[in-house]
Amino acid sequence: MSKKVTITIDGREIEAHEGEKVLWVALDNSIFIPNLCALKEKEHPSGSCRLCYVQVEGRPEPVTACTLAAKEGLSVQTRSPQVDRLVKSAFELLLSNHRLGCGRCPRRKSCALLKIARERGLKMRLSRLSALELDVEIDESPETFAFDRSRCLLCGRCVWICQEVARVGALGFTNRGITRRVGTFREVSLAQSPCTECGLCVEACPSGALYFKEKSDDK
Ligand code: FES
Repeated sequence: MSKKVTITIDGREIEAHEGEKVLWVALDNSIFIPNLCALKEKEHPSGSCRLCYVQVEGRPEPVTACTLAAKEGLSVQTRSPQVDRLVKSAFELLLSNHRLGCGRCPRRKSCALLKIARERGLKMRLSRLSALELDVEIDESPETFAFDRSRCLLCGRCVWICQEVARVGALGFTNRGITRRVGTFREVSLAQSPCTECGLCVEACPSGALYFKEKSDDK
């Protein structure tokens, strides 16, 4: 194990392992930093959701906490005007690609987006961006779970789990840019894909995109 260092988060001195990512140090010490795409077991974070910005003492621009390594004397603030602006923009960008209507969402009591909105005082509606076209069918072909792509945040957690942990490779990213989406190879239904219904992708999903049919927040 790497050596212990002392870092400061929001004025609190905390012991961490050198190299440990600041996001996990903060969360393990009950300091909230918004995050969606990070997974603790993933050694190389993708840093794609852009929600976990923090202000580092001595650096002019905020940096993502999921990629920031702890080192002796590091001092960060989880909030600053710049951080709040960046998080607000990233959050709205995610919302623009996410079908709203929380009342009907199977994850409405355990949704990561709602938690972030609550913690940071953000609105669950669009103010500057328009919603992208999300008229897609829910894939209910698996026996135990369903995939509603219109609620997918493209965080990539399910893809990584399916490929690197389950080693099944049923899910992947298809297309690029604005049409990038999570799906199966050749866009077949999950039942027609190599999916084994291990359920790890569902457990990793932070929104209501992947949900167990029998274990939604209503049941
Ligand atoms: S959690 Fe850091 S960029 Fe997504």
